[in-house]
Amino acid sequence: MGIYSERVLPRIIDVACGLPVNERLRRRVCAGLRDRVVEIGFGSGHNVPYYPESVKSVTAVEPADGGWRLAAKRLAQSSIPVQRSGLDGQSLPFPDNSFDAALSTWTLCTIPEMSAALAEIRRVLVPGGTFHFVEHGLAPDAKVQTWQHRLNPVQKTLFGGCNLNRDIADAVEQAGFEVRELDRFYEESAPKFLGSQYLGVAVSP
Ligand SMILES: C[S@@+](CC[C@H](N)C(=O)[O-])C[C@H]1O[C@@H](n2cnc3c(N)ncnc32)[C@H](O)[C@@H]1O
Repeated sequence: MGIYSERVLPRIIDVACGLPVNERLRRRVCAGLRDRVVEIGFGSGHNVPYYPESVKSVTAVEPADGGWRLAAKRLAQSSIPVQRSGLDGQSLPFPDNSFDAALSTWTLCTIPEMSAALAEIRRVLVPGGTFHFVEHGLAPDAKVQTWQHRLNPVQKTLFGGCNLNRDIADAVEQAGFEVRELDRFYEESAPKFLGSQYLGVAVSP
């Protein structure tokens, strides 16, 4: 990892992901997490304050040391044990059926092979385990999609490989999950090409 991705980008992500507008979405997506949880793309730990009491432990998968360092304050205030283990959502170092729930917030956009990460999440969840996600991605409107496709190369270059135009719900279904809840909406504080959100819970068969 270079200086930009290790030192600069985690700080940009920390500020952008820490915006107050995200708080209610974090609260919603974390509701229902329980027992052993794996969080993919932990970043600087902005979800930590929203883990419900039903969570017994969290395993954090995060490639950027800089992000993990920025999480220190939030981790110190958490009563739920959080352990960093694993650097890449595409290849998780855990046995099958290790977790009761998984969490991903604004991370599937960045993982190079999203389908590999979803297959790994499914593999490490117990049957009936839940995958909770809030992600930006492909918009429902054709005009917005056109801009998303146009701007995608710039977005990827500036923001660590982040894609604007991934169909998150379709990818979750293609990975074999049953999507139990799904809310699609535009986050009003962001331009539509960036603010098209997918918030949901999917169940591993
Ligand atoms: C936009 S940030 C979101 C961080 C955090 N989930 C949040 O909501 O604040 C995307 C995160 O995905 C991480 N990431 C990038 N590639 C990854 C990979 N292959 N596996 C797991 N996480 C990855 C980045 O380092 C970054 O922390």
